[in-house]
Order: sequence, then structure tokens, then C-alpha cells
Amino acid sequence: MIAQLPVVVLISGRGSNLQAIIEQQQRGDLPVDIRAVISSRPGAQGLDRARDAGLPAVIVDPGRFPARALFEKALMEEIDARAPALVVLAGFMLVLGSDFVRHYSGRLINVHPSLLPQFKGLHTHERALQAGVRYHGASVHFVTPDVDGGPVIIQAQVEVRADDNAQTLAVRVLKEEHRILPEAIRWFAQGRLGLEQGRALLDGRPCMHPEGSVP
Ligand code: GRF
Repeated sequence: MIAQLPVVVLISGRGSNLQAIIEQQQRGDLPVDIRAVISSRPGAQGLDRARDAGLPAVIVDPGRFPARALFEKALMEEIDARAPALVVLAGFMLVLGSDFVRHYSGRLINVHPSLLPQFKGLHTHERALQAGVRYHGASVHFVTPDVDGGPVIIQAQVEVRADDNAQTLAVRVLKEEHRILPEAIRWFAQGRLGLEQGRALLDGRPCMHPEGSVP
């Protein structure tokens, strides 16, 4: 158990998941030391949220690098300078290469707006509605080189309503993201969560989903 888990949060936009982490931390419910918030987009609203909370807000813009590998190297340097025990992708909208992902193996998590393995990638709410699923939701998972395919830590289900559109569904899913992402971070900070031999383990047992079956 680490008293204050050093964390770096990566964002690309609005930063509402970041805000959920900050609020839980400020309330004393999440034992993390957010050492930096790094955005891949210069104008991201989440950068303002970070500054408002007194956190270092850093931009690493892929557009400023002649090659993707150089961007990822710079991103790694910014992260590693803060020596985080956990790196959190909270609405970080770029796919990271396998060298990057392997460098943070077992300490890199992502929140994704679907019940993985369903609807990997973008536009998950539209695709869920098109597919006519009864349940949609959100997942937090360890990041591996298999994009949106890493071991799931926790999921939350949302019932799809007959009158839902992508926006109304997204609102309810986002509310769950704001709950399960801090929960996963808390487990990690408590030393209860890890990635072992390709499996997400909580208290030494496989993380099971849907969330109802998580102990
Ligand atoms: C979230 O739905 C996240 O899962 C997805 O993009 C959205 C980002 O929201 N990848 P925010 O920036 O945390 O408000």
C-alpha cells in the first residue's frame, strides 16, 4: 500500500474523467498524488481543469513532431520525469505504439466507453444503438499493444432506452466512467490490483465483469 500513489493523467479534450479523479482526490477519497496532467491537444478544456486544481498542465502536441515515434518518445520523457507508479489514460484519444505501451506494462490503464470487448474504437454509442444492444456501458482496462483489448479491470452497465440517442446514452455512460475510473485507481493505490501473466487481478483473483461479480 502506497500512501499517495504518484500518478500522471493523459487527456486530449474535455477532461471530465480527470475532474472526477481530482474531486475524489480533493475529498480525501483517492490516495493519489497527481504529478502532472499531459494533453495531446493544446486547447483541451482538461488543461484548465488541471490548472484550476493547481496541477502541472503539460502539452505534448503530436503535430509538433516530424514522426510519431518522436512524439511518443517526448511523451515518455515528460511522463517519466514525474516517476509515476500509474499512468491513466482519461479520454486520451490517440493510439499509442507498442514500445510505449510495453514501457508502462502493468501501470497503464484506460477508460473506454463500451462494454469491452464490444465496440472497440470510436463512436461507441452510435454503434451500440445501431446494433440494438440492450446494455451498453463503460470499461476500465489495462492497456496492452492490442488496442482496447487489454484485460478488463471493472465495467459498469447502462440499460439502453428505446428513446436513447447517442448523446443521451453518452451522458449515462460518462457518469459510470466517472465512478469506475477512480475506483480502479483506488484499487491500484491500495496495492490490490495488478496485471499478472496477461490477467487483471484484484486481491489475487481475476477481475470479473460485469461489475456485479467483482468482489
Ligand atoms: C470519454 O467517454 C472517454 O471514455 C472517451 O472519451 C471521453 C472523454 O471524456 N475515450 P472526458 O475528456 O474525460 O470528458
